[in-house]
Amino acid sequence: MTRLKTQWMWLTVFVTVSFSGTILFRGNHIREIKLTKAFRRTTESSLSWASMKHVTKSLAELGKMDEVNRHFLFLNHVPKCGSEILILLLQKLQGLNNYKHVRLTGGNQRFLTRTLQEDLVFEMYDVIRKEAVPLSFDRHVYFINFTSFDKQLPTYINLIRDPVDKILSRASYKDKLGKKDFYSKCLVRKKNNCNFKDGQPYDLTIPYFCGHDPRCMLLNNEWALQNAKSNVERYYPVVGVLEELNTTLEILEDKIPYFFKGAQEVYKESVLQIFKNKKKPPILKVVQDKLRETLVTEYEFYEWIKSRLFSQLQILYGEHNSH
Ligand SMILES: *[C@@H]1O[C@H](CO)[C@@H](O)[C@H](O)[C@H]1NC(C)=O
Ligand SMILES: *[C@@H]1O[C@H](CO)[C@@H](O)[C@H](O)[C@H]1NC(C)=O
Repeated sequence: MTRLKTQWMWLTVFVTVSFSGTILFRGNHIREIKLTKAFRRTTESSLSWASMKHVTKSLAELGKMDEVNRHFLFLNHVPKCGSEILILLLQKLQGLNNYKHVRLTGGNQRFLTRTLQEDLVFEMYDVIRKEAVPLSFDRHVYFINFTSFDKQLPTYINLIRDPVDKILSRASYKDKLGKKDFYSKCLVRKKNNCNFKDGQPYDLTIPYFCGHDPRCMLLNNEWALQNAKSNVERYYPVVGVLEELNTTLEILEDKIPYFFKGAQEVYKESVLQIFKNKKKPPILKVVQDKLRETLVTEYEFYEWIKSRLFSQLQILYGEHNSH
């Protein structure tokens, strides 16, 4: 009799302890989530870094060699440059290569205030913490310097195209402008996204590589061009060119096999058909020349990226031949 009573007593104690333990644990958990959110916006707060540290190491802890995370890919795509192709490829390859692709929402905003940049960096690191696999992300956004938020940079990639074709693609997408119309609206009256100088309704390519410094968004700014190139050299192992898509895929497979192994095959099998036969709108030569004259550094950057891609290909073939 007494033995049974004792057993009941212990059981009650056990249940009570574990039950309240659960509540306590849950309470802490919820508080911790709230704390993290509250500290998101306060960069300066040393407490915030202390609370983050146990999950992701700060850059200082990682050391110089790990400035870029090889298992964290970021396609910060330039609009109207065919990035849909790369996104589709990343989605199709995720099962094959054991990573996960995440499409970041956040609208069409390419320029972000420092607070919004920080929010985006933390959003990405939140996903990284939750998922136990390598991740790739995509979103329209100008280059973000993760180092300035004490975080490891992702492996950046991107795809660009001929600057005039990019403008035409936008114009035809908007209102199917004819030849003459395009000239007068775009270059004379500076309507339809062609006002490059003030207000920048036309979105240049360089800021996607240069970043959020106000100089990055100025047309034909030499500092912006140099900064974009330097970021490409440091953080973008591959920047593809839409006109050279096959070469782009080959280099992606070679440089970033972790994510792009099998890309050329998947492209041929199931992506090529979807994006075939896109017609260019007709355009007067004089308009093309005028645009070329206007977009000086945009062309310099485009040609530089193209020759970088070809020299990567040359090195790749050189390696093949020497074996
Ligand atoms: C990124 O930010 C860090 C820290 O603020 C700075 O030292 C570094 O020069 C920046 N890098 C680029 C490419 O702007
Ligand atoms: C790229 O590869 C595809 C598929 O093999 C082929 O159909 C196409 O002609 C190639 N394009 C160029 C420009 O070489």
